[in-house]
Amino acid sequence: MTETSLMAADIALCRMDEVPEDGALRVELEGRPPLAVFRVGGRFHVTDDTCTHGEASLAEGEIDVEEGIVECPWHAGAFELATGKPCGAPCTVALRVHAFEERDGRLFLKE
Ligand code: FES
Repeated sequence: MTETSLMAADIALCRMDEVPEDGALRVELEGRPPLAVFRVGGRFHVTDDTCTHGEASLAEGEIDVEEGIVECPWHAGAFELATGKPCGAPCTVALRVHAFEERDGRLFLKE
């Protein structure tokens, strides 16, 4: 493991139990755009929190658990949580998806 990856793995996002099942938590880290941690069907996803169409917080969006997507609270655009791919107009730009790891009941950003 490189020094960089060791440092990156130590960027704590949140405790896993802070993220509601089939819900989301907005996480603000100093010097970075806000992130959204989603927990859907027992799986976690970490994305940028701000919609690529406007300034809406996707952590406040509607989650479709069956489809694994989040619908933006402003104009009902949508993104796949696993890939960030836009899947509902008016969104056309992909949402950034972040790598993370689960350790000791917490989530850590890996980048
Ligand atoms: S701000 Fe998200 S769809 Fe417009």
